[in-house]
Amino acid sequence: MKDPKGRTKPGFEHHIFICENKRDEEHPRECCYDKGGNDIRLRFKQEIIRNKLTGKVRANKAGCLDFCEQGPTVVVYPEGIWYRIADSEKDVKDIVKQHCIEKKIVKRCQIKL
Ligand code: FES
Repeated sequence: MKDPKGRTKPGFEHHIFICENKRDEEHPRECCYDKGGNDIRLRFKQEIIRNKLTGKVRANKAGCLDFCEQGPTVVVYPEGIWYRIADSEKDVKDIVKQHCIEKKIVKRCQIKL
């Protein structure tokens, strides 16, 4: 049985969640929206298309992922690897190429507590 897109099972090889939570300026915690969360998600979508990964890798907007001070925060499943995007152009390209294609963690972007 196939769905309308021809898929035979639910899910993706990699599912990327990008925090775009926005907070009031008075809020004591930082927010990923103010640190470029929306731009980061759009860059992931562009990289997925550019690398012909549509249908295999999905980038979705997320609400607060609760690692706000380490953000802008991204998590990639199924591995559950958490990333901080410091350089949106370079980091997004490397995460798509190295993590999603070459199956290697981009260590320099990993969130460390
Ligand atoms: S606001 Fe992005 S992780 Fe909380």
